[in-house]
Amino acid sequence: MPSKASPATEASAKPARPARVLSGIQPTGRFHWGNYFGAIRQYIELQADTSSAVPLQADREAFYFIADLHALTTVRDPERLRGLVHAAAVDLVALGLDPNRATLFVQSDVPEVAELMWLLMSVAPMGLLERCHAYKDKKLRGLPADAGLFTYPVLMSADILAYDATIVPVGEDQVQHIEVCRDLAGTFNHLYGEVFTLPQARLVESGARVPGIDGQKMSKSYENTLDVFEDLSAQKKKIMRITTDSRPMEEPKDPADDHLFALHALVASEPDRQEMAELYRRGGFGYGHVKKALVEAAAHFFAEARNRRAALEADPGCIEVILANGAVRARKQAAEVLARARQACGLARGTSAGRRS
Ligand code: ADP
Ligand code: TRP
Repeated sequence: MPSKASPATEASAKPARPARVLSGIQPTGRFHWGNYFGAIRQYIELQADTSSAVPLQADREAFYFIADLHALTTVRDPERLRGLVHAAAVDLVALGLDPNRATLFVQSDVPEVAELMWLLMSVAPMGLLERCHAYKDKKLRGLPADAGLFTYPVLMSADILAYDATIVPVGEDQVQHIEVCRDLAGTFNHLYGEVFTLPQARLVESGARVPGIDGQKMSKSYENTLDVFEDLSAQKKKIMRITTDSRPMEEPKDPADDHLFALHALVASEPDRQEMAELYRRGGFGYGHVKKALVEAAAHFFAEARNRRAALEADPGCIEVILANGAVRARKQAAEVLARARQACGLARGTSAGRRS
């Protein structure tokens, strides 16, 4: 898939170093189209461009991780969590995340991040965290929240700062957390010197809000998802059951306010999308036609990824090797930043620049 990214803009503050892209995704369920078009697709586009260079020495570096520590606040079944982490890694690689162009790892394989979180907790104002929406929304709904949810943005900040990330591609809902990260990093730097690199959020350009099959935002909590790797006949049934409006067939319709059209547009080729838009404006078609086109376009769009997924599933050890290698690379980086932070705030003694040995 061609990259529309221009990371040089975000990286301009630190021209000497290649931009470092980092993002995390929670393994709380199987990926749906909202996750793919709203997040994962962008990660894949932002991998290092190694077309002519040595792997991982290109114009930018990319770190992506599966946020299992964050998932602990919602997934309480250990076997399920282990399964979801493995499945997330398989899905990401199948969708095009290339371990030669990005470091893929599991969040909890880098324990340095948990220690860094504590250093940041020590400078995190309660008021700032009370305003964060994950916690605030739960509280407003009268639901009990645990400290993990309350301090979620601090862990996320540690995730970002541990790798000196400069660009963090995220969905709209995560922008507030990047602001918290910048705040905490700024406070720490102000107190102790230039320890952390301030990151920038990078918002997804298109498909920013993928609708679900009921027209609301697609989300697993609304049970309105089309999943990237769901069984094709089950997906067909779901699509054929999508409720549509009851306007007569002859009436011309505006494609812009139809979720069926929006879903088709995500997976159809450009000429097919344009033809469909014409059909809407002309009128005289049945929604069954659009649904059929959607079923076919979806199967075609994800066919290659499905094949790759089947091959990866046949060789489960391969994913574990990818994750183990990723963890080694990620830990090396996080250990450097942690040593810097320990030294700066007075934890490290002696001359070993904060290294604990
Ligand atoms: P869910 O709402 O299903 O629980 P998550 O919150 O786990 O999804 O989503 C993870 C990321 O996927 C979000 O940060 C966002 O970037 C992206 N995302 C999820 N749903 C959508 C959507 N409907 N449209 C666009 N992006 C989405
Ligand atoms: N909180 C993010 C989400 O729910 C996942 C995440 C955890 C993350 N740590 C991160 C994203 C660091 C970007 C950077 O989608």
